[in-house]
Amino acid sequence: MIFIDACFKKKVPYTPVWMMRQAGRYLSEYMAVRKEAGSFLALCKDYKKASEVSLQPVEILGVDAAIIFSDILVVPLEMGMHLCFKAGEGPVFSKPLSNLEDLKALDPLKAVKKLSYVYDALKLTREKLPKEKALIGFCGSAWTIATYMIEGAGSKSYAKSKKMLYQNPELLHQILSTLTQALKLYLEEQIKAGANALQIFDSWASALEEKAFFDFSFSYTKELCSYIKEKYPHIPLIVFPRAISGYLDKINGDFDVFGVDWSTPLELARDKLSSRFVLQGNLEPCRLYDKKAIEEGIKEILSIMRGRAHIFNLGHGILPDIPVENAKFFIKRVQELSAL
Ligand code: CP3
Repeated sequence: MIFIDACFKKKVPYTPVWMMRQAGRYLSEYMAVRKEAGSFLALCKDYKKASEVSLQPVEILGVDAAIIFSDILVVPLEMGMHLCFKAGEGPVFSKPLSNLEDLKALDPLKAVKKLSYVYDALKLTREKLPKEKALIGFCGSAWTIATYMIEGAGSKSYAKSKKMLYQNPELLHQILSTLTQALKLYLEEQIKAGANALQIFDSWASALEEKAFFDFSFSYTKELCSYIKEKYPHIPLIVFPRAISGYLDKINGDFDVFGVDWSTPLELARDKLSSRFVLQGNLEPCRLYDKKAIEEGIKEILSIMRGRAHIFNLGHGILPDIPVENAKFFIKRVQELSAL
């Protein structure tokens, strides 16, 4: 698998490419299956349909890896929190987590068992996927998942989570430890079900000042990576702490690939990290609105990364109104231009 080879800095014939949120609303085929399922969460829980949409971007766009279709928030859902996805608003937890009693009511081990629909989807997807294509499993970072559990929904300021961080850091650490305990077993089950690589999404890393980022977010991500790496050294681990370009000097850990978001200058990430990690990224997702912007963006990124280990991706998820034709063009041009 070219994607796995690239994760381990092996020589590859071209730069492998995939897109975050590649199984999603910009594909009419995805919308059709989601409609059949009834809702986003019903789609996550139906392993056959989840597998079907995971395979769509491989079939339609020719990406080098499939990412399993699911969501980072199924973990707190199956720990016992009520979750719904409201159209236009995103995820909502009707009873956010605010004290130790709320935390004690959650069951991390039960969650790992109840998430069997994710493992079933991985298993089926791995069976159907061409053998040269990799299958990526994933989870959210403990911090990013915790922000949704504490805020109850997406947030601009993360004020509730950060209030807890400064007023009651012990409680936040307990929440993060409980989540990390679940995530270790969850990722392990994903490997057993057929995941060839794993990505940890830390979308809200940038909400934290430097010390808080390392103490409350990245230390837990590193703990998770060390646990998996020790048992499964052949499985590449990708971390994606979003928009933390100011903190790159202090990044280290038992992972293979560092995902660079679009706001971080790729030269900076290359100079600070690429001697130690493979870099993944980081085309600005809005470039996909325009073919010329795509072509220029690809050429620039390839020239920055020339001679270095690299996996091509967007610098964050693909947006729902991107024309499929442009997404196809992006994948094809990365594969063509990087082979030259
Ligand atoms: O990348 C993939 O194709 C795999 C599937 C995937 C989804 N969510 C499907 C999804 C992955 C890897 C995620 C991760 C995820 N989920 C993150 C981290 C990555 C990031 O984007 O920063 C976060 C923060 C979430 C939580 C979440 N899920 C939000 C905030 C939303 C609503 C925002 C939106 O785009 O509507 C979701 C819903 C969601 N997760 C959708 C998809 C395809 C859209 C739901 C739909 O079909 O209507």
